[in-house]
Amino acid sequence: MSRFRPEDDLWRFFWGALTTRALALAADLGVADALADRARHVDELAAEAGADADTLRRILRALASEGVFAEDSPGVFRNTPMSEALRRGGGLDDFAHLFGGAWHRAAGGLTATERATFPEIHGTDFWSWLADRPDERAAFDRAMGTGRQWKVERASAVEWRGDETVVDVGGGNGALLIELLRQRPGLRGIVFDLPETTRDESAFGDRIEFAAGSFFERVPPADAYILSTILHDWDDVDAARILRTIHEAAPVGARLVVIDAVIPSGNEPHGAKWLDLLMLALFGGRERDQEQWRTLLEHSGFEPVRVEDGLIEGVCR
Ligand SMILES: C[S@@+](CC[C@H](N)C(=O)[O-])C[C@H]1O[C@@H](n2cnc3c(N)ncnc32)[C@H](O)[C@@H]1O
Repeated sequence: MSRFRPEDDLWRFFWGALTTRALALAADLGVADALADRARHVDELAAEAGADADTLRRILRALASEGVFAEDSPGVFRNTPMSEALRRGGGLDDFAHLFGGAWHRAAGGLTATERATFPEIHGTDFWSWLADRPDERAAFDRAMGTGRQWKVERASAVEWRGDETVVDVGGGNGALLIELLRQRPGLRGIVFDLPETTRDESAFGDRIEFAAGSFFERVPPADAYILSTILHDWDDVDAARILRTIHEAAPVGARLVVIDAVIPSGNEPHGAKWLDLLMLALFGGRERDQEQWRTLLEHSGFEPVRVEDGLIEGVCR
C-alpha cells in the first residue's frame, strides 16, 4: 500500500518531467564524476562545470530529495548509490541525457493521436537527427549497450544449432552479437545497420562483419535473424515491411529471433507500458501484446513458435 495519500502520488507524477530534466542536467554537467572521490561544495562544482551555483544547488537539492545525491551540510553534496550509477561510461548517464533532452521535448508534445511528435518538434525523424549529430549518435549507441546483458540472456535462450550465420538486424554497435558469439563459438555473425552507427570493429573478432544498409531495402542472406528492440520502433505497417525484407532474403526454415517486450494484460507495472509512449512520441512506434505479435509475424511470412516477454521466435515459411 502506498505510504502517500493519492494526491501525493499524483504530485510526484506531475513533477516527474522536472525530475527527468534535472537528471539530464546533472548528467550533462558530469556532477556524479566530480563527486567520485569526495563530497564537494556546489560552488566548486558549478565553477568547474560552468554552471550557475545557485541554480545547480537547486537542481541537486531537488534530486537529493529523491535519493539522487545527498546534501550533507548546506551546499555540500556527495554521491549516493543512485547518483553513482550516473557516472560517465555506464550508459545510464547517456539515457539521462536522452530522456531529459531531445526525448523530453518530444514526449512533451505527445497528443492522443497516432502521430510521432519527434519530427514535429525537431524538424526531422529521430534517425536522421542522430545521423547529423555524431555525439548524440554515440550517446545513443552507448545507452543501447547498457541493455546488453538481458538481451544476451534472451538470445542465449534460443536453441542455436551451432553453425549458423546470424544477422543482427539493426545491431547498432554490435554489442549483442559480440557477446552471443563469445558464448557460441560455432556461430558466425553480421551486424547490419545504418552506416552512421558508432562501433569499434576491432572488438568484432574474425567471425563478425559489419554490413551497412537499410532494412527497408535489403538484408544479407542468413540462417537466422535477430531483431533486438527494433520492431517496437515502428508502427505495424513499417514493422511488417522490415519483416518482409527479411523474408525476401531468408531461406524457408530460417529463424527469426525478436527481442522485445510482450505487454502483459492487467494493471501490473511493466516498463514497456511507458516505453510504449516513448516509442509513440519518437517514431509512431509501439510495444505489442501476445496477439499483436502473432498477427504481425503471421502476416509477414513467419510462423510464430514462441511469444514470451523478451523473446519472440518465428520460422520463415
Ligand atoms: C533501438 S536501436 C537497437 C539497437 C540494438 N539492436 C540493440 O538492441 O541495442 C535501433 C537500431 O535500428 C537502427 N536502424 C534504424 N533505422 C534503420 C534502417 N532503416 N536500417 C537499418 N538499421 C536501422 C538504428 O541505427 C539503431 O541502431
